[in-house]
Amino acid sequence: MDFRKAVLVTGGAQGIGKAIVMACLEQGWGAAALDVDGEALAALAEETGAGKALLTVEAANHDEAAVAGAVAAAATRFGCLSGLVNNAGFSRNRPLEELTLEDWNAVIATNLTGAFLCAKHAAPHLRKARGAIVNLASTRAFMSQPGTEAYSASKGGVFALTHALAASLAPDVRVNAISPGWIATQAWQKPSHRSEPDLEPQDHDQHWSGRVGAPPDIASMAVYLLGDQAGFMTGSNVVIDGGMTRKMIYVE
Ligand SMILES: NC(=O)c1ccc[n+]([C@@H]2O[C@H](COP(=O)([O-])OP(=O)(O)OC[C@H]3O[C@@H](n4cnc5c(N)ncnc54)[C@H](O)[C@@H]3O)[C@@H](O)[C@H]2O)c1
Repeated sequence: MDFRKAVLVTGGAQGIGKAIVMACLEQGWGAAALDVDGEALAALAEETGAGKALLTVEAANHDEAAVAGAVAAAATRFGCLSGLVNNAGFSRNRPLEELTLEDWNAVIATNLTGAFLCAKHAAPHLRKARGAIVNLASTRAFMSQPGTEAYSASKGGVFALTHALAASLAPDVRVNAISPGWIATQAWQKPSHRSEPDLEPQDHDQHWSGRVGAPPDIASMAVYLLGDQAGFMTGSNVVIDGGMTRKMIYVE
């Protein structure tokens, strides 16, 4: 099958990644969701009913052989691979003295090393398609709470990886990052883990936007950055956080 555009989304079965996959499908693009959670991938296929427009791959983004296989399978299925969204990520927040080397390595492997591997293996296809990469960083790349060393460092790495890739892949492939703030993903989990977000009025009210974010807030920007209308954007980082990182927090 030949698609005008086709996008590989890591961590695409749940949360923000799921919203990005669904937004790509709505554009009429092919979408490949690579995720470690097979149950969530099966639920995604059933919920979207996307048929051949959706390829699901059960694998970790830091398994190099699996990534190479997923990239090849997506290019074969869709006739091109024009986009990559490095979205898979998680945090293991704990006091510094209790953070193990295993914790650190696990977070860096998924959040940063996986993004490098996917970019490396997708690059030949993306160059051919004159495509784009979108990396999910975080506002935690730029500001912190205690006990977030591994996650914050991984996201700072994603921010820097983004401009390094933008330099290496220019002028063929544009590479940008999105840094979300608080995005409530509970309603975007697989059915066995799904719930409505349990949010207090103060959770919403502290944002200048008047509300906490939702996965479609990020997905719409990802689609924009993957599309031809963003042709003059590369090496950029787009903060989507309801204003939280612009807010002075001195107690008066
Ligand atoms: N939710 C937020 O508030 C928020 C804020 C800033 C940044 N982010 C970033 O956005 C991205 C998505 O976050 P989310 O909240 O939607 O997460 P989520 O936990 O809702 O979904 C993550 C998905 O990634 C999959 N996954 C985990 N490790 C993987 C791996 N090694 N390979 C492939 N798939 C893997 C999981 O199975 C899951 O389906 C992450 O990079 C996260 O750091 C999220």
